[in-house]
Amino acid sequence: MSDKVLSQFKQEEVKEEIKPARKVKIGVIGCGGISYAHFNNYKKMDDVEIVAIADLIPEHMEQKAQEFDLPDTVRRYHDHVELIDNEPDLDVVSICTYNSQHAGPAIYALDHGINVILEKPFTVSVEEAVEVMKAEKRSGKVLSIGFQPRYARSMQMIKEVVESGVLGKIYYVQTGGGRRHGIPGGTFIEADKGVIGALGDIGCYSLDMVLNALGYPKPLTVTGYVSDFFGKRPEYNEEPEDAERFAVDDFGAAFIRLEGDIILDFRISWAMHPDTPGDTIIMGTEGALRIPSTDCWNGAIPDGITLYHDVCGKMTETKLPHLTDDGKHTLFYKKIRSVIDKAVYGVKDAPTIPSSQIIINQAIINAILDSSKLGREVEVNIPEI
Ligand SMILES: NC(=O)c1ccc[n+]([C@@H]2O[C@H](COP(=O)([O-])OP(=O)(O)OC[C@H]3O[C@@H](n4cnc5c(N)ncnc54)[C@H](O)[C@@H]3O)[C@@H](O)[C@H]2O)c1
Repeated sequence: MSDKVLSQFKQEEVKEEIKPARKVKIGVIGCGGISYAHFNNYKKMDDVEIVAIADLIPEHMEQKAQEFDLPDTVRRYHDHVELIDNEPDLDVVSICTYNSQHAGPAIYALDHGINVILEKPFTVSVEEAVEVMKAEKRSGKVLSIGFQPRYARSMQMIKEVVESGVLGKIYYVQTGGGRRHGIPGGTFIEADKGVIGALGDIGCYSLDMVLNALGYPKPLTVTGYVSDFFGKRPEYNEEPEDAERFAVDDFGAAFIRLEGDIILDFRISWAMHPDTPGDTIIMGTEGALRIPSTDCWNGAIPDGITLYHDVCGKMTETKLPHLTDDGKHTLFYKKIRSVIDKAVYGVKDAPTIPSSQIIINQAIINAILDSSKLGREVEVNIPEI
């Protein structure tokens, strides 16, 4: 087992040694769909207590409070400002608001000295991501962006294979995924809430899978395309009336030039006719990996990662072992736990997901949208923070 995989177990040992005298105080901002996974996993941790929750829609809060048996002593607030202003002792907040409400709450929390677990995608623009990173820097607090597939052992193996050098110099990568009929509805499809559709919902995971394996090289140029042929048709929405609200992309594709002379060919889809837009393929001078990653947002990769290489000049295919997770903790548990371990228990190598990487993911997504609108290739410049 690699050091990286082992480090996740080490964290738990450290935690036992330095348990604080009081419980870790948690706030949850946004009590809609994904907050379920945050409440569910916090409830599994003996050393934390949820002390405050907020939502613009009180019924969403009450629904979660009932579902998770939260006592009346858990304070309820209207929004992130009210919660943060009234809870100076919070250690960590989970920000589970829709995409257009990621940056504001994250900046406000960091500026008030609170550590942040921010749901993906990072934000809806590079400018917003930069402002969040400036707040992170001036606060000195922990910020982690919620890409839970990173904690899956099969995902970690992809990175280990690339880093081992067995593929040689990587020159071409294709990645992406999608669903045939899988438009999520809710706030995902609204211009002022989701803002970015399939690209921000599931495209960010496909990008993270390969960019993380490659060490997050910077993008140089992007030729992007987005469309909405399915979202605007009632028969492709779970609730047919959603077609009228649909105002984001349901398909995106791009040809991305990365630093290090690597080409990244990418496509993502919420709705399409084929069953896949293709596997992920990482091509190097000494070998290639084929990864069945059509629904990579689920975290674990199904059995069947293949290494293609030559042995004594003969074309050879090696099936890599199918790594499943330990089953002890969910990927979500690990993503939340990494922030608590780093921020509260001082575990330096707790595997949080750094903003310095995810701003690159965000920049590619925004460049795809810009390029599609302009109908030409765009240059990408990531600001230094
Ligand atoms: N990691 C994952 O697997 C995963 C899965 C689904 C969604 N997400 C992400 O989670 C986020 C939320 O998605 P969702 O499906 O839960 O959306 P949702 O619309 O169901 O819930 C968002 C909630 O936030 C509330 N809200 C918005 N702004 C607020 C504010 N300033 N203060 C307090 N409450 C506020 C809304 O009223 C709403 O109840 C999205 O960014 C999405 O991309 C992540």
